Amino acid sequence: MMILVTGATGNIGRPLVGFLAQAGVPVRVVTRTPHAASLPDGVDVVAADPSDPGTLAVALDDVDAVFINPRAVGRAAGAFVALAEKRGVRRAVVLAASNVDDDPARQPSRYRGDYNREAEQAVTASGMEWVSLRPTNFAGNVIGLWAAQIGAGDVIRGPYARAAAAPIDERDIAEVAAHALRRDDVLGERLELTGPASLTQEEMVEIVGTAIGRPLRYQEVPPEVAMQIMVAQGFPEQFAGAYLRMQADAARRPARTTHVVTEVLGRDAGTFASWAERHREALLATSGPRVPGGRR
Ligand SMILES: NC(=O)c1ccc[n+]([C@@H]2O[C@H](COP(=O)([O-])OP(=O)(O)OC[C@H]3O[C@@H](n4cnc5c(N)ncnc54)[C@H](OP(=O)(O)O)[C@@H]3O)[C@@H](O)[C@H]2O)c1
Repeated sequence: MMILVTGATGNIGRPLVGFLAQAGVPVRVVTRTPHAASLPDGVDVVAADPSDPGTLAVALDDVDAVFINPRAVGRAAGAFVALAEKRGVRRAVVLAASNVDDDPARQPSRYRGDYNREAEQAVTASGMEWVSLRPTNFAGNVIGLWAAQIGAGDVIRGPYARAAAAPIDERDIAEVAAHALRRDDVLGERLELTGPASLTQEEMVEIVGTAIGRPLRYQEVPPEVAMQIMVAQGFPEQFAGAYLRMQADAARRPARTTHVVTEVLGRDAGTFASWAERHREALLATSGPRVPGGRR
């Protein structure tokens, strides 16, 4: 059984490849940057671009199941899925998002080229077995949002202090993906994956402060100031606008939580506190990863 992973050098793909390799499953990855991939021994690395399915001839040889990351696939999800099916791939697991059915103006990721809805639709309309993963906010988003400010002091300025999220540990998403690629019990499901608790921005900042051993405080600023801060940090303006609309909504009620991670994996979902402890170093890196300005 060969599994092909797109987005393998990213937040979900890297731990996913780790879980599959650990389980002894033959894994192939497609990456635009094979020299920098540094994946576990035994992983077959193919230089190709999943957003250009014309480059995937070799990558799809003898593949049974694919993991589709919309960021890596871009606008080519339909073409990628059609090609995979034609080449005999039996199963596709797609990474979508909890907000995939929302108004696109409230889906910031669309403004950086993530066509999650289209990718999910391509997979669910295919003749392949499928599973869609619909996670909430990745815990790691706070690195891009807050690391620069953590480096500059103890106050994190941002919008809507009471905006709630149920941040999920990327490792949990990856382990559910590994399960969905190999096991049959979640086929045909759209899995709504959340972290274990609803937390406000203020609470998340406090938890990050505890993890780095330095008390931090969230200072709410008006949305227009938050917009200036985000743009200065390198976020595209439209992305920031959609993010602010999403956070305004999120301030109205606690975030929905589900038990799907526990049901699938038979263990509790990771807490934001344990995620923060594991990522202390990245949270303290003054030049935390930035959101790039969209696709090429
Ligand atoms: N962050 C969240 O809160 C959240 C929540 C729910 C859903 N999602 C969705 O999850 C997906 C992102 O997953 P992720 O964080 O694992 O992705 P990621 O780490 O940002 O990127 C995954 C891989 O995709 C390739 N890639 C990145 N940007 C690209 C571009 N502009 N053009 C072509 N290839 C590119 C890179 O692979 P190579 O360089 O190796 O080719 C990268 O390692 C998106 O669809 C996002 O909307 C995110």
